[in-house]
Amino acid sequence: METGNKLSTSIDATVPTAARMYDHYLGGKDNYAADRAACEELDKVVPSTRRLAVNNRRFLQRVVKTLAAEHGIRQFLDHGSGLPTQDNVHQVAQRIDPETHVVYVDNDPMVLVHGRALLEQDERTAVIHADMRETDVIFSHPETQRLIDFDQPVAVLFNSVMHCIPDSETDGPQAVVRRVAERLVPGSFLVMCQLVSEDPEVREFVTNFMDQATQGHWGRVRQEKDVAEWFEDLDVLDPGLVEVSTWRPDTEVAPRQLTHEWIEFGGVGRLR
Ligand SMILES: C[S@@+](CC[C@H](N)C(=O)[O-])C[C@H]1O[C@@H](n2cnc3c(N)ncnc32)[C@H](O)[C@@H]1O
Repeated sequence: METGNKLSTSIDATVPTAARMYDHYLGGKDNYAADRAACEELDKVVPSTRRLAVNNRRFLQRVVKTLAAEHGIRQFLDHGSGLPTQDNVHQVAQRIDPETHVVYVDNDPMVLVHGRALLEQDERTAVIHADMRETDVIFSHPETQRLIDFDQPVAVLFNSVMHCIPDSETDGPQAVVRRVAERLVPGSFLVMCQLVSEDPEVREFVTNFMDQATQGHWGRVRQEKDVAEWFEDLDVLDPGLVEVSTWRPDTEVAPRQLTHEWIEFGGVGRLR
């Protein structure tokens, strides 16, 4: 990795993190006053964010279920997995097949603590503390090697995480996607979405706000065309790249993104 962005090993309750802010938006309890205050400030400019977070999580759950039930995927590598909540990836996938293996990767030390507490009884899942740009570290990690057979198709998830890393020739989203894809067999999947806005003022405000709030542990709000570039060499599953609440909604009352200050935009691509 080219950045000097060190992996934090201690929890600092005074500096908001993306993981704990997201947890607050989802109604979780693994967050602090600083995280909740940052969410409150953000809501003044992008008030649809709680709905956006809930829709994002439901998208992730629908995708995992679809890949397990319709495409036979039994191995998931989840980058930027977030704090455990209801219906985590392994729970959704293991409902289809209890033998499914899942490796979670996150750079937030709180995710490690809570993730391990949830998973310590489960032989088929593991939580790795790593930066998602460290592809070599993640793929060669003993837990990844134990749980994932890279001669078989894998679903690699980058769900609502690419906005947490800045642009870079060697470590930006495009570079990370390329080096991950090189290590996967055809029939594997890449799931990717991130925060986008077509409004330059929203992009600038939120990028600056999150960068300052998290003390530089953030990337940027991008545009739909940026996300589309990551899928260029992949076969994109129907309905294509979309605002994620419209990706194969599973009930008629699934909440839609009603406002468009910013949206989670992305989809699912299959390796040829
Ligand atoms: C918005 S949450 C998304 C959680 C989950 N993927 C989902 O869609 O529900 C973003 C997560 O990415 C993690 N994250 C941010 N930057 C990261 C990085 N460079 N490496 C690994 N994880 C990162 C954060 O700690 C957080 O848990």
